[in-house]
Amino acid sequence: MINPPVDERYNDGVVRQFALMTVVWGIVGMAVGVLIAAQLYWPTLFEGIAWLSYGRLRPLHTNAVIFAFGGCALMGTSLYVVQRTCHVRLFSDRLASFVFWGWQAVIVSAAVTLPLGFTQGKEYAELEWPIDILITLVWLSYAAVFFGTLLRRRVAHIYVANWFYASFIVAVALLHVVNNLALPVGWFKSYSVYTGAVDAMAQWWYGHNAVGFFLTAGFLGMMYYFVPKQAGRPVYSYRLSIVHFWALIAIYMWAGPHHLQYTALPDWAQSLGMVFSLVLLAPSWGGAINGVMTLSGVWHKLRTDPIIKFLVVALSFYMIATFEGPMMSIKTVNSLSHYTDWTVGHVHAGALGWVAMISLGSLYAMWPRLLGLKQMWSERLIDAHFWLHTLGVVFYIASMWIAGVMQGLMWRATNADGTLSYSFVESLAATYPYYLIRLFGGLLVLAGMGLMAWNVWQTWRSARTTEDPAVLPVATAH
Ligand code: HEM
Ligand code: HEM
Repeated sequence: MINPPVDERYNDGVVRQFALMTVVWGIVGMAVGVLIAAQLYWPTLFEGIAWLSYGRLRPLHTNAVIFAFGGCALMGTSLYVVQRTCHVRLFSDRLASFVFWGWQAVIVSAAVTLPLGFTQGKEYAELEWPIDILITLVWLSYAAVFFGTLLRRRVAHIYVANWFYASFIVAVALLHVVNNLALPVGWFKSYSVYTGAVDAMAQWWYGHNAVGFFLTAGFLGMMYYFVPKQAGRPVYSYRLSIVHFWALIAIYMWAGPHHLQYTALPDWAQSLGMVFSLVLLAPSWGGAINGVMTLSGVWHKLRTDPIIKFLVVALSFYMIATFEGPMMSIKTVNSLSHYTDWTVGHVHAGALGWVAMISLGSLYAMWPRLLGLKQMWSERLIDAHFWLHTLGVVFYIASMWIAGVMQGLMWRATNADGTLSYSFVESLAATYPYYLIRLFGGLLVLAGMGLMAWNVWQTWRSARTTEDPAVLPVATAH
């Protein structure tokens, strides 16, 4: 592999591996996203080829972007941050290496079994039991590496970013084990131990907290390290970050039933989910404002530093998604939004706007430092990526918002005699132009990822070839 003159105090080899695979899986997962977006516009695309059918590619997309792209970004940055904030090398290099290769094995197993049609049929928990056991082993090892490093720290204080990463690691272990309890009846088939409404509740307790802890808490850890680092300023309010942490983890756990409004779930549970979702607005915005205000005094960097642009726009999308979510959890609003593309728009405001942008910004900040360099090969390419991505997300979510509200209104419209004004097919036909706009947005995002891959590769090459000590500030590179 490479041999750049990097800081020996830390195990950056495993972080480099995770960072590189974040880019690779990001491209794969988003390319599958573009493919299924195309299938929704051209439904006969790949007709007759079972493993390329929409029903099999969709879970491949969600697993690839959340667990492969998001997972590698989270694991890589957490291992980078915990070493630097604890002033100590990782607890065990060998275990860290097992975590990397084990996680790649999980991803490859998912990429093979999902298109073949092996699935538990639980959204975001599709993988069958042998892979689930592997995930548990890898996750426990990851927890051992992270917490082992925290325990060996050379400073008394545990920086707040680590609190968020720690809650993500603990909560995901709990969610994964509880929701996947199942009875195997063959190597690729099992039955959940839960049935009926209890099954639905367990699934959405899992699903919502996967959003809260996988797609939010860990990325907030990223935000609390990389925003202050890149801005060159301390966190706006450290006290607020502590309140943010405890409020967020205390409230998230109870909001899951908002995914099951108007179902067989007891009515009180649905209302409970709605109330906790509304309360969740406060810590979400409190945390985001804490991140944005960290730029006080250095706002001018927004003009010149494309990495800051990524990080701040990520926080803006986080605020959009966490305002929209509580609104959608209100039962009357949910009666309009549920089953429509509005939900898909909300998901991608969070996923492409928040999760992807905070990860990409953090990667651009981290990658050169991992190679002993001051900055990426091309700042202009980062800027071009920023604009392609931002525009892509706007095309994606705006088209889905309009399509979703339109669908909801068409489905509930009635004539004077009480019959439905529109057939389902009419609402589908009306949605087609918006699917094309979404596809266009997805292509812009994917093109941006292509630029990133090129920039990452060139930065790597320049680290191998340059011998200028001014460009390689060894040991100060953090
Ligand atoms: C190029 C970028 C992307 C494109 C074109 C894309 C496209 C799509 C499409 C077409 C769907 C299916 C929607 C439906 O069933 O109606 C979908 C679902 C989904 N995508 Fe993406 N996606 C992209 C990136 C991402 C990223 C980066 C993430 C997460 C970090 C993500 C997370 C999800 C999730 C969670 C769902 C399921 C939504 C639901 O069940 O409501 N996507 N995506
Ligand atoms: C205060 C924060 C949030 C609240 C209260 C919230 C609430 C909601 C609600 C009410 C739904 C629709 C449920 C339905 O009708 O089926 C939903 C769906 C979803 N949200 Fe959020 N949301 C929040 C933030 C986020 C963020 C930041 C992300 C992503 C990073 C996200 C990802 C998702 C996903 C993936 C789904 C679709 C689940 C599915 O049906 O497959 N949410 N959210």
